[in-house]
Amino acid sequence: MSTSNGSGHIPVLLNEVVDSYASLKEKSDLVYFDGTFGRGGHFQAIQKNYSIKKAYIADQDLDAIAAAKNNWQDLISKNKMDIFHGSFLDFARQNNNKLDMILLDLGVSSPQLDQAQRGFSFNKDGPLDMRMNQKAEKSAADLINNLHPDELMHIFKTYGEVPNPYHVVKAINQDRVLKPYTTTMQLAGLIERVDGWQKKGFNPATQYFMALRLAVNQELEILQEAIPLFIDQLQDGGLFSVITFHSLEDRIVKNLFKDTDVGFLKNKKVIVPSEEECRINVRARSAKLRIFQKGKMPEKPDKFAARRALRDKPQT
Ligand SMILES: C[S@@+](CC[C@H](N)C(=O)[O-])C[C@H]1O[C@@H](n2cnc3c(N)ncnc32)[C@H](O)[C@@H]1O
Repeated sequence: MSTSNGSGHIPVLLNEVVDSYASLKEKSDLVYFDGTFGRGGHFQAIQKNYSIKKAYIADQDLDAIAAAKNNWQDLISKNKMDIFHGSFLDFARQNNNKLDMILLDLGVSSPQLDQAQRGFSFNKDGPLDMRMNQKAEKSAADLINNLHPDELMHIFKTYGEVPNPYHVVKAINQDRVLKPYTTTMQLAGLIERVDGWQKKGFNPATQYFMALRLAVNQELEILQEAIPLFIDQLQDGGLFSVITFHSLEDRIVKNLFKDTDVGFLKNKKVIVPSEEECRINVRARSAKLRIFQKGKMPEKPDKFAARRALRDKPQT
């Protein structure tokens, strides 16, 4: 399964995500929540494989919401799907329903990346925007033109893992007084001029743009706050699957899934895409899937019980 349902977005780790809910296969009347609905690629496959009574779906992107309203009219009219525009954290804050299945497939979708006017791509000239929610207050240009240089240093170092963003930040700080930054190419051009192509084939703007996107959309902060709320809202036995594309996101997910005693990490080893998937879909390359289950960890079968019983049997 790797279809892009005409939207250009190929759902990542699709089979693995569908299988992550396998222990609910025999159950009916399931309540599903998808916090990063996008074009619904994962939902489409999940819906075919599980008996879902009600789907709550959220996305902070207005285009994703418009597509969902258009594509899922049947479920909406039967009151089997509720659509929420906003961040999954805002959804979690107001949700009173218990959930059997939760999916977060973090980051941006192909339709967002592919549209120059959304400002996510350093390869396409567009406004320096990067807001996933078109109604959000601050764009990437607002941060670049107004933040204190120390804050920009912090963003690029922490979120982008840029070892030394000092010269880029200094240049931004000097230039923006004369001419504010308004376009992606303006910023990408400056980064390329100052940092140069240190690694072959790796545009120096990559990490800066990733860092800015995380800051504009407060992606790490939202994730950190939302996960414990969703763990609370999970039904006993319910499953919560998260796909991350950034090491800091993965660390947050792993730690929050490990540090609670109301459930457990189902997959000890993180699930990553096959080479074949990465070849077909380059977006999948950095994907990691972690699965959490609410409830008590099933006890492992005791492999040595029979041998011990034999050994301890009183000799006659
Ligand atoms: C990787 S795409 C999801 C693709 C989807 N699973 C599919 O198969 O079509 C991520 C989507 O999540 C949305 N998103 C990212 N962070 C979000 C958040 N904190 N709250 C709500 N939506 C978010 C983005 O706007 C984007 O549409």
